[in-house]
Amino acid sequence: MVRAGGAGPRYVRPLVYLGYGSMGVALDLSEVRVAIAAWSWEEPPERVWRLVTSGWRRNHQDAIPPLAKTTGAYLNSGLAKLAANRGGYDDAVLLTASGHVSECSAANIFLVKSGVLHTPSVEQGILPGITRATVLDLARDAGITVVERPVAHAELYTADELFVTGTATGVVPVESLDDRPTTARGAGPVTTVLRDGYRQAAAGRHPAAADWLTPVGG
Ligand SMILES: Cc1ncc(COP(=O)(O)O)c(C=O)c1O
Repeated sequence: MVRAGGAGPRYVRPLVYLGYGSMGVALDLSEVRVAIAAWSWEEPPERVWRLVTSGWRRNHQDAIPPLAKTTGAYLNSGLAKLAANRGGYDDAVLLTASGHVSECSAANIFLVKSGVLHTPSVEQGILPGITRATVLDLARDAGITVVERPVAHAELYTADELFVTGTATGVVPVESLDDRPTTARGAGPVTTVLRDGYRQAAAGRHPAAADWLTPVGG
C-alpha cells in the first residue's frame, strides 16, 4: 500500500474493528476486520510548543488500559486537546489520578534537568510510544543518562528543557508549561541532539536505524 502511493513520506495508520452483528457492547472477537490508511506526509515545519496542564486526568489504567491505542480512550485526549487549543496552547499535559505526569494528548513527554533525561515510566499509565522508545535508545547511544520514573507535576516547571515525542509530531521542543518558560525556552542542547538524531533515523541516515526501518521500495 505504501509503495502504491508513490514516492515520499507516508503516515500509516492501521485500525482494528471488533464487534459485529448485534447491538450491544460485547466485543465479539470471532470477527475482526482491519483497515490500513496511508497518508502522504510532509515533514512539519520547525515548531516549539506551548503546553498547558489539563484539568482532565488521564484514563485510569484500571478503567481503560493506556498501553493500548484504543479508539474509545481518545475521548479523554480529545477533551484535553480541545480545552488546550481553545486556551491558545498547542497541547495539554495530562496528569494521572495520583497527580503525576502521564503524557500529552497524543505524545509522550520528556524533561531534561542538569543534562539527565527523565520521562514517566510505563507503570505510570502512559502509551509507551514507538518514538519514545526510539528517543530513549538514541539518548543512551549518545551517552545521555536516562531515568524512567514517576515524575511530579512541579518538576516540569523547573525543567531545563522539555520536549514531546510522537509518530505524527516527531520530537518537538516545548517553550513553556502553564506560561512558565523552561530554562531553554525551546530546543536546548539535549533536545537538539535527540531531535536531529530522530530525524536522521526516520530518514534512514542514522547508523542505529537499520533495524528500525522496513524497506518498501519496489
Ligand atoms: C496517548 C498517546 N501517547 C503517546 C503517543 C506517541 O506514540 P508514538 O510515538 O508511537 O506515535 C501517542 C500517539 O498517537 C498517543 O496517542
